[in-house]
Amino acid sequence: MTTDANPPLPNIAIDGPAGAGKTTVARDVASRLDYRHIDSGGMYRAVTLIAVERGYQACDWEDEDRLVQLAEKLDIDYLGQNGETRILLEGEDRTRDLRDAAVERRVSQVASVPGVRWALVEKQRQLAMSGGVVMDGRDIGTCVLTDAPLKVFLTAATPVRVMRRLVQKHCSGSPVTWDEAARSVVARDVIDSTRAESPLRLAQDAIVIDSTRLSRGDVVSQICFMVDSLRRGGRATR
Ligand code: DC
Repeated sequence: MTTDANPPLPNIAIDGPAGAGKTTVARDVASRLDYRHIDSGGMYRAVTLIAVERGYQACDWEDEDRLVQLAEKLDIDYLGQNGETRILLEGEDRTRDLRDAAVERRVSQVASVPGVRWALVEKQRQLAMSGGVVMDGRDIGTCVLTDAPLKVFLTAATPVRVMRRLVQKHCSGSPVTWDEAARSVVARDVIDSTRAESPLRLAQDAIVIDSTRLSRGDVVSQICFMVDSLRRGGRATR
């Protein structure tokens, strides 16, 4: 039970373009503060993965209904484990599969389907209901957790984001070329920021962190410092 002496921990929203480092930073912040990390992009990837496995086509209207039903019914859970965030689909750990190339190619399209978004936004709000969540994505501050007391918009120059994507792909054992990584980052930026339903944009009350020249540790420390100020009753300033 929450009492005035024991207020809920504030939720933290982290949004930004592909390759800005949101998920890694959100995970590290959650780990440092003992919060729960919810990678909302993982939900869009989860629906895409299962749709790909079932042979659904996102461009087909009939299948759009099936995608929405899938998003509504799919059991998605998050497990923090040794500083990592594992994503369970129907109880099975599918974290690794969510980064498959087939998922990567289609996920922005699936994330543009309004009914899929409504279903997943509902799940995201449920997970954040008791507070103490660090949630990263594209519309967390503008749509999912509009009353989050701390909203961060994390960005970085495009070549830096491409380089990070390249390194991430290399480390995950599915290397791509610079041109492939650049095309994928730019294509994602266009789809994510121009779609009709909750596009990526800066929330009015978000604090922008440009990580072009910052290390991951610097960004994590800045955010933890802001959370600390908030919890002491101050404002979330740097
Ligand atoms: O952050 P990511 O690369 O795992 O996101 C995968 C896709 O899902 C990407 O195309 C953006 C989309 N997404 C979204 O539309 N809204 C969110 N809250 C999170 C991700």
